Amino acid sequence: MKDDKSSNQMWGGRFASGPAAIMQAINASIPFDRKLYAEDVAGSLAHSRMLAATGIISSDDRDKIAGGLRTILHEIESGTFVFSERLEDIHMNVEARLAELIGPAAGRLHTARSRNDQVAVDFRLWVKREALRVTVALEALIEALLDRAEEHAATVMPGFTHLQTAQPVTFGHHAMAYVEMFSRDLSRAGDGVDRMDESPLGAAALAGTSYPIDRGMTARELGFREPTRNSLDSVSDRDFALEFLAMAAICATHLSRLAEEIVLWSTPQFGFVRLSDAFSTGSSIMPQKKNPDAAELVRAKTGRMNGHLIALLTVMKGLPLAYSKDMQEDKEAVFDSAETLDLMLAAMTGMVRDMVLDAGAMRRAAAAGYATATDLADWLVQKLGLPFREAHHVAGKAVALAESRGSGLEKLALADLKSIHPGITEDVYSVLTVQNSVRSRQSFGGTAPAQVRKQIRYWRKRLKKGRERR
Ligand code: ARG
Repeated sequence: MKDDKSSNQMWGGRFASGPAAIMQAINASIPFDRKLYAEDVAGSLAHSRMLAATGIISSDDRDKIAGGLRTILHEIESGTFVFSERLEDIHMNVEARLAELIGPAAGRLHTARSRNDQVAVDFRLWVKREALRVTVALEALIEALLDRAEEHAATVMPGFTHLQTAQPVTFGHHAMAYVEMFSRDLSRAGDGVDRMDESPLGAAALAGTSYPIDRGMTARELGFREPTRNSLDSVSDRDFALEFLAMAAICATHLSRLAEEIVLWSTPQFGFVRLSDAFSTGSSIMPQKKNPDAAELVRAKTGRMNGHLIALLTVMKGLPLAYSKDMQEDKEAVFDSAETLDLMLAAMTGMVRDMVLDAGAMRRAAAAGYATATDLADWLVQKLGLPFREAHHVAGKAVALAESRGSGLEKLALADLKSIHPGITEDVYSVLTVQNSVRSRQSFGGTAPAQVRKQIRYWRKRLKKGRERR
């Protein structure tokens, strides 16, 4: 095809030349897959060492290849490497440069290998490393939450259902709910790594190879537990990327929920927390405002995390075995999810560490919402033997009375309470304060400060063990 701008007046306008240029533009992945350069070099080094060890290439060629690959690594990292779109992807860019550097020996590197297993191994290495990074970032967030939970294990706040005050809980308990969520993300990231820890290198194009390769050796050299067991699956599987995206989307969902609570809590109407200046911004027109932008952006970025997961699921559905070029679309989603999740985790960790809690405001809010009405009902059951349904009714009347007086339940006179149920005694006041309510919820996993502290100890120990295992 002639390089001529006028070759297609209808749809060629954006391109420097005709259909060949358009083909190149749609085909090339080098603008984004250059991110895989270190993994590509590592994979080729391992492959060439294995080829020499099995006698498929000479040790002389192996050494030339290794020298050239190291030069390329250095060129890329120092910014002097010239990437070419014409060479499509990172694999061909590296190989072409290798030929320039070492001559014909470069042509032996691709023996018993295809770009199909090459990209599969590169991408697995990249996702594996990134999942481990997520693990470290999640641990930092969990630690920040544990610290705040410990500090506020006995700080009472309203617990909500339907965003209506339900029962008093402690801030520590609330923070520990997020520790549970992020710990599940941590475990998802970890067992994703466990499953992807198999090397597809040596599957070749799709059917394996007739050369006497040693796939165990390349797997070991690249830090994989073992080689994959089916060459067709090896080049067509992107579960590791999907699992990473799913883990990231679920984790983002947790981050988004916490972000939403921070947005609510930091409004003057709630007033539970004050964000540090570092994690909020002012308004250019309204001087009184302090906006929780970081929390809002964490909440918003969850959208594209979900999008990336759906995008790759959609790319993969309906692909016949084995490799199809569709699979080249796997990378941008994963790259962006990894980068975005990193930023979201860092921002949330900073906000959690920095935010200042207003314990007084939380306690007042808990007391204002008749949050101990359930405690009153439970007292009627436990002390007077009322069936719960009847106790619920009596407590409801007490709430209505308190409401008409504009006071809290604990402010009602004993005579008033007796007018609702004659059996009520002075003793009832011991359960009507939010402090006592919280202290009484001693069931395993309950909100009593002692239970919260127990869970904090449990997670600190698990976190430590997890880190030691790495
Ligand atoms: N750039 C390609 C990708 O990311 C590499 C594999 C190309 N394989 C092929 N048979 N064209 O998927």
